[in-house]
Amino acid sequence: MLEIKNLIKQVNTPSGESLTIAKVEELNVASGEQMLLVGPSGSGKTTLLHMIAGLIVPTGGMIQCDGVVLSDLSLKERDQWRAKNVGYIFQKLNLLNGLTISENIGIAAHFAGRNDKTQIRKETLALLDLVGLADKANSRPNRLSIGEQQRVAVARAVINKPKLILADEPTASLDQANVFIILELLKKLCHENNSKLLLSTHDQMVMSQFKLCYQVRTQEKVTA
Ligand SMILES: Nc1ncnc2c1ncn2[C@@H]1O[C@H](COP(=O)(O)OP(=O)(O)O)[C@@H](O)[C@H]1O
Ligand SMILES: [Mg+2]
Repeated sequence: MLEIKNLIKQVNTPSGESLTIAKVEELNVASGEQMLLVGPSGSGKTTLLHMIAGLIVPTGGMIQCDGVVLSDLSLKERDQWRAKNVGYIFQKLNLLNGLTISENIGIAAHFAGRNDKTQIRKETLALLDLVGLADKANSRPNRLSIGEQQRVAVARAVINKPKLILADEPTASLDQANVFIILELLKKLCHENNSKLLLSTHDQMVMSQFKLCYQVRTQEKVTA
């Protein structure tokens, strides 16, 4: 279970005001559940996903995932927890052009502390096959179309069978056919691994494909 309570992220503006850029009173996602984060651009979806992944520290509130309270972890422990338990599909993908596609995926297994190279290679190739990119294993990310890169990012996010998959607008800039490929893939992998899926979007078509939805509040100013 992912449990979020009274979560808030505030930043200081140059004029000295405190600005709330993300806020969640209560959000629970059970294992196997697939939840949308919906809100317009600038409403705080990416900030929220970064807090859940432990990439940025909230100003207040609590995030607990499968019994682990994030704020109890040191920076190093948070990095280790994320590498093992979270599959993050970044809005900007963050694929490494210096590495091949299969290396981009394999490195996520390495970061999770796995050393079984043969097994990782086997799983990587199976995932590439699943996302329809078996023939691109040795290509560099910048040689692939955006739709193909999105599928690599999905494969990289799920190589460790994470209990929590965070997908930040994973279908933005895709054509309709690729939107369905990515969504079906995420749903299938989430179901197989009994993972929790949190997927942010502002796309009506994506919204129509999911039952659970959390509306992210638009940012608001708070007096200093
Ligand atoms: N580190 C930061 N400092 C100041 N403002 C930020 C920072 N990060 C994000 N923001 C602002 O917070 C708001 C929410 O951003 P974001 O989480 O990226 O929204 P979304 O993903 O929903 O488009 C935006 O107005 C953005 O410009
Ligand atoms: Mg965003």
